[in-house]
Amino acid sequence: MKIIETVAELQALIQQEKKGGKSVGFVPTMGALHDGHIALVKQCRDENDVCVVSIFVNPTQFNNAGDLKHYPRTMEADCALLEAVNADFVFAPTVDEVYPEEDTRQFEFGLLDKVMEGEHRPGHFNGVAQVVSKLFSMVKPDRAYFGEKDYQQLAIIKAMVRDYEIPVEVIPCPIVREADGLAMSSRNTRLTEAQRAAAPLISKTLLASKEWAKSLTITEVKRKVLESINESPELEVEYFEIADALSLQSVNSWAQDGEKVGCVAVFAGEVRLIDNVVYR
Ligand code: PAJ
Repeated sequence: MKIIETVAELQALIQQEKKGGKSVGFVPTMGALHDGHIALVKQCRDENDVCVVSIFVNPTQFNNAGDLKHYPRTMEADCALLEAVNADFVFAPTVDEVYPEEDTRQFEFGLLDKVMEGEHRPGHFNGVAQVVSKLFSMVKPDRAYFGEKDYQQLAIIKAMVRDYEIPVEVIPCPIVREADGLAMSSRNTRLTEAQRAAAPLISKTLLASKEWAKSLTITEVKRKVLESINESPELEVEYFEIADALSLQSVNSWAQDGEKVGCVAVFAGEVRLIDNVVYR
């Protein structure tokens, strides 16, 4: 496994692989890797000749300075995990390498980034689009792997690839959970013991909401989800939305056409956790 810090070196190596006719798979991450990330890397490695993983804590997608400052950075442990699953290249650039100049691009995603995470984290998805579009043009992957844990991010990336005609296949990967159901997240390590013990209530509630959905209206399900999670003194729901799974716009009747997704953001103290469930 090779660790690369510059765009020039990355491109030289990848060009060489591509000349040999090899397919390139790519997993962008911000490090602090866990089994959720590793599942993406394994799928990437299995489906491509060359597997590239980036580790870059992207400052332009943090709308909260404290969150950026406290974001866990565990480069050595990350590389050990990646080595163990046979990743080929780890691209770990500095901020100046990715942003030699300020990125002033504004991406247009219609209503997709106006709701949920986009509404509560202004500028977040523009920052994600900035860095992912740059990483795509640096790596030029055939396939790129994204987790359904960040459901809206996946929708935004798909829209970006389609609307900005980026030649890459976006592969969605299922949410990986702890044994108690908590969606794996780099932020989980920041939870206190009490918060960690309370946090599985989030996924338990989302799972229960699939049952509630069989007999209750959307308004009723939403109310029950809020009540259930907020019952814990350690947790406070920021939002819970039931949205059309494609447009991500809020729906108010189960009878509306199309698959629906329930997306939640919850504060455990300062730590913000997200999760989602698809109603089929
Ligand atoms: P990060 O939070 O490190 O996540 C990297 C990738 O791992 C994302 O596609 C995310 O959805 C996926 N992932 C994280 N936890 C997961 C879990 N429990 N199950 C399945 N997949 C999971 O998302 C980002 O970084 C950044 O926004 C990035 C795309 C790298 C741009 O900076």
